Amino acid sequence: MRALQISELSGPDAVQAADVAEPASDTDVVIEVRAAAVSFPDVLQSRGLYQYKPDLPFVPGAEVAGTVRSAPDGSGLAPGDRVAALTLLGGMAEVAVAPAHLTFKLHEALDFAQGAALVMNYHTAYFALALRGRLREGERILVHGAAGGVGTATLQVATGLGATSVAVVSSDEKERVARECGADEVVRSDGPWLEQVKALGGVDLVLDPVGGDRFLDSLRSLKEDGRLVVVGFTGGAIPEVKVNRLLLRNLEVIGAGWGAYAIPKPELDREIGAALDAMIDAGVVRPLVGARFPLDQAADALRLIEERRATGKVVLEL
Ligand SMILES: NC(=O)c1ccc[n+]([C@@H]2O[C@H](COP(=O)([O-])OP(=O)(O)OC[C@H]3O[C@@H](n4cnc5c(N)ncnc54)[C@H](OP(=O)(O)O)[C@@H]3O)[C@@H](O)[C@H]2O)c1
Repeated sequence: MRALQISELSGPDAVQAADVAEPASDTDVVIEVRAAAVSFPDVLQSRGLYQYKPDLPFVPGAEVAGTVRSAPDGSGLAPGDRVAALTLLGGMAEVAVAPAHLTFKLHEALDFAQGAALVMNYHTAYFALALRGRLREGERILVHGAAGGVGTATLQVATGLGATSVAVVSSDEKERVARECGADEVVRSDGPWLEQVKALGGVDLVLDPVGGDRFLDSLRSLKEDGRLVVVGFTGGAIPEVKVNRLLLRNLEVIGAGWGAYAIPKPELDREIGAALDAMIDAGVVRPLVGARFPLDQAADALRLIEERRATGKVVLEL
């Protein structure tokens, strides 16, 4: 079958098309892939900078959408079902394999590209906001990197949870995307965003996939009892905090690492999947696909993310 392979860790150009053996499984779901997502971790993985470091060569691709070729008994899935799935690796290929509990029937309102954009970012957003951040109806959140994959998912899930949102973005185009995904207010990362957020009365929760030097101002933007949920570090630097700041204003800094926590917990995955399905039913969750590429242009897709030009989710279509 056709697939993409990484055989050296030199960045996006190392992701090359290759003919590889088709995977098969009796215990997992075998999926004929129609769309494979490209994410920030794929860029890191192409340079050997991600926490998961597979042996070379490997087929990248953590999440896909497609149709079921075969599924194990008891999975509730049958050949021909449209699904979205977390493959972790091997997704950028004509055929991929995923555990049954991380393979979700794809809602009829979503196309395959939107399905490929669903699992990692929306499960992370729900996990980070509802479960780790204890977001309540009527609260206001601040979302950094709001036009990115995690950011756009977070804006929509926040609406689904009854919260309002302030998006932090770096350009006019990203402002448009954040508004399309439901942001109530949009501020610029290179502008006086802290003063603007304070003028709104502050926020109850910050969701931060960016890190770096805006971390301190994020804490300053919180109301008393506020929570800052750490999701990632696209800005490069991992911030540090003097904990007296937390004591003085009764703040919390909370880690939200979805994958390692949720992957071994099928019940939690089903619970989050059901909550997201209800938000799709309500018309609130609609993954925004910012760019689509054919499989053999994957390097361009990874570069779009690496160069901070991506909006929403970047998807390879087969
Ligand atoms: N904790 C978890 O469970 C979990 C799950 C999924 C992903 N993640 C992590 O979440 C982070 C975001 O992933 P994503 O898929 O949303 O990425 P993305 O689509 O590329 O979006 C990231 C956003 O970060 C902002 N940014 C600020 N400084 C940047 C820089 N120097 N380079 C690139 N972007 C920069 C950009 O927004 P502006 O240009 O508007 O600033 C960009 O839109 C990644 O670190 C990823 O590994 C964590």
